[in-house]
Amino acid sequence: MICQEWSAADLVLHYPRNPSPTLRVNFIASVDGAVSVDGLSGGLHGPGDKEIFDSLRMVCDALIVGSGTIKAENYDGLRLTPEARAWRRQRDLPEFPLMVIVSRSLNLDYQQLIFTDAPIRPIILTHAGADTREAAKHAEVIAVGDGEVDLAAGVAALHARGATQLLCEGGPSLLGSMIEKDLVTELCLTVSPLLVGGGPGRIAAGAPGIARKMSLRHILTLQDMLFLRYARQGN
Ligand SMILES: NC(=O)c1ccc[n+]([C@@H]2O[C@H](COP(=O)([O-])OP(=O)(O)OC[C@H]3O[C@@H](n4cnc5c(N)ncnc54)[C@H](OP(=O)(O)O)[C@@H]3O)[C@@H](O)[C@H]2O)c1
Repeated sequence: MICQEWSAADLVLHYPRNPSPTLRVNFIASVDGAVSVDGLSGGLHGPGDKEIFDSLRMVCDALIVGSGTIKAENYDGLRLTPEARAWRRQRDLPEFPLMVIVSRSLNLDYQQLIFTDAPIRPIILTHAGADTREAAKHAEVIAVGDGEVDLAAGVAALHARGATQLLCEGGPSLLGSMIEKDLVTELCLTVSPLLVGGGPGRIAAGAPGIARKMSLRHILTLQDMLFLRYARQGN
């Protein structure tokens, strides 16, 4: 479906909660594939993407982000608008999604707003060998894997507590690992009308993976911005 006119209210229909467990990834890239401008995604933003970003957060059970992204993008506590919270309450969802930070090293800044201004206690996903004493003062810690964060086990742990609609906002290292582990069921990609040139990487980084086929669910456009939603076949 190609849609050139849509309102914020339509977005829930375009990005629904799925009946089955979902790991939906949301990224923005330039037309020539850059994941950032001057080290941040902010330089890629344009009309419509904030509404989609907010809508994806509103409908999810848990938001998963890598430590590189929370540091680079200086993430705030996961707060939603009053309208978004009301939408969730009407559907018997917790008022706020879980905020899940993935870190192997636990070299995190606990003075960041993502910890100090969190409406509910964030979760840190790490591995069994990590020294979690400091992290546990600021977040709930889930340790999965030995030496490495076992992302599949982390996803299973979230499912076990009823969080089946997972949203991942990156970054590229985390997405690369999730693709490698075959965990991604949906990719929402915003294409920003910029030529950035060489320098920044792609939306996925790390070891090469096995190519997996995706199906196009919709195309939305607003001015020169393009919003694509792809899902794994069968999802
Ligand atoms: N365009 C976009 O939509 C978008 C979205 C997000 C980010 N970005 C950009 O991407 C850049 C950050 O990229 P990044 O790759 O460093 O960030 P990232 O993927 O958010 O974070 C990588 C970190 O995640 C942790 N991690 C733990 N287990 C992992 C695993 N199994 N696989 C991968 N990571 C694991 C590690 O943290 P520890 O080091 O703590 O162990 C690793 O250093 C920034 O420039 C940001 O602006 C762009």
